[in-house]
Amino acid sequence: MQKKSIKDANIKGKRVLMRVDFNVPLDKELKITDDNRIRAALPTIRYIIGQGAKLILMSHLGRPKGEVRLEFSLTPAAKCLSELLGKPVEMLKDCIGQEIRQAVLAMDDGDVGMLENLRFHREEEKNDPEFAKELASLGEIFVNDAFGTCHRAHASTEGVTHYLEAVSGFLVEKEIEYFQKVLTQPEEPFILLLGGAKVEDKIPVIENMIEKANAILIGGAMAYTFMRVLGVNIGSSRLEEEMSGMVKNILGKAKTKGMGIVLPIDHLVTDNIQTAANVKVTKGEAIEEGWMGVDIGPKTISLFSEKIKSARTVVWNGPVGIFENDKFAAGTKALAEIIAHSPVTSVIGGGDTAAAVAKFGLIKEMSHISTGGGASLEYLEGKVLPGIASLRDKDEGRRMKVEG
Ligand code: 3PG
Repeated sequence: MQKKSIKDANIKGKRVLMRVDFNVPLDKELKITDDNRIRAALPTIRYIIGQGAKLILMSHLGRPKGEVRLEFSLTPAAKCLSELLGKPVEMLKDCIGQEIRQAVLAMDDGDVGMLENLRFHREEEKNDPEFAKELASLGEIFVNDAFGTCHRAHASTEGVTHYLEAVSGFLVEKEIEYFQKVLTQPEEPFILLLGGAKVEDKIPVIENMIEKANAILIGGAMAYTFMRVLGVNIGSSRLEEEMSGMVKNILGKAKTKGMGIVLPIDHLVTDNIQTAANVKVTKGEAIEEGWMGVDIGPKTISLFSEKIKSARTVVWNGPVGIFENDKFAAGTKALAEIIAHSPVTSVIGGGDTAAAVAKFGLIKEMSHISTGGGASLEYLEGKVLPGIASLRDKDEGRRMKVEG
């Protein structure tokens, strides 16, 4: 079902309450180290200002768990946004209350205000209806452009939609478009490339994709648990023993469905991950005792590259090595380059994978880089994301509990 977008609403002169995901990383001096999530919301922000509306932004930052803590303030995000827009962004002291309401009501058309961290109130994560109603009272229409938070049923993502007309921003619209395409009508061959450490997070994705993808390539730390289950020696590589049962089960299912799960056939290994003084490539899939896998090897790079080159759609979630260390980055870099330069529709999962693509300067070459980590995984698992489900459908209005 297509969701209503900001373009479908008349917002001129209105107070637009917009959920953004400005959950950006900060260093010790509270400086933003990656402003991509703020930049990603700019098209919608600029459009709303351009339409002559008053824009009230709200977001969480980190997990302050209901406590007001300076290190989780959204002030750096408001400053960054103001610089990017080249106009003032008023940082408000809280997200609810009389003072905030008055400040919002005093805004002029084209003004931008930023509410303080929603998670300074416990009610946000509890999706408390009264809190949601108070937030909603600040706006006349609600826009969700916080894809990274759409898997959370919180007051600012789901709760407010019971009280205001709810539409998507351009970022959420684009995320839905790409994920829907790969989930419902991917151009084939469709390859799913998975990496990263946590097997637990990826099993539900594999489960959902077994029916849809033509092949699943697995690299990164999660591959070692798969190999161990198949009886391959993995030396002292990372093993998630408790996941063995689930891995066995999923391998069985893939076999029954005739779906190929492709694992590395060689590895880059080290005997000391900290110093990385001794590094070598294994001859085959097995890893000797005392050595641990830190990247895929050259034969695996060729194997995975061939599969990617023959694909029309590639969804990639999780680096295939510890790419943060340049010595262990060759596999992730090579695959990123192949994906970037092949004529495929490429959808890159958020978090580490997006960071890897950014590190190799390939952001512009990908079809879509998701701003959601957990949200993109849950989408690929086939779950309903509450932040998206609660938006109005294009062809029908959704009843509101309270009007106005
Ligand atoms: C993210 O960083 O993935 C989103 O902002 C959601 O954050 P959360 O996991 O703290 O809900």
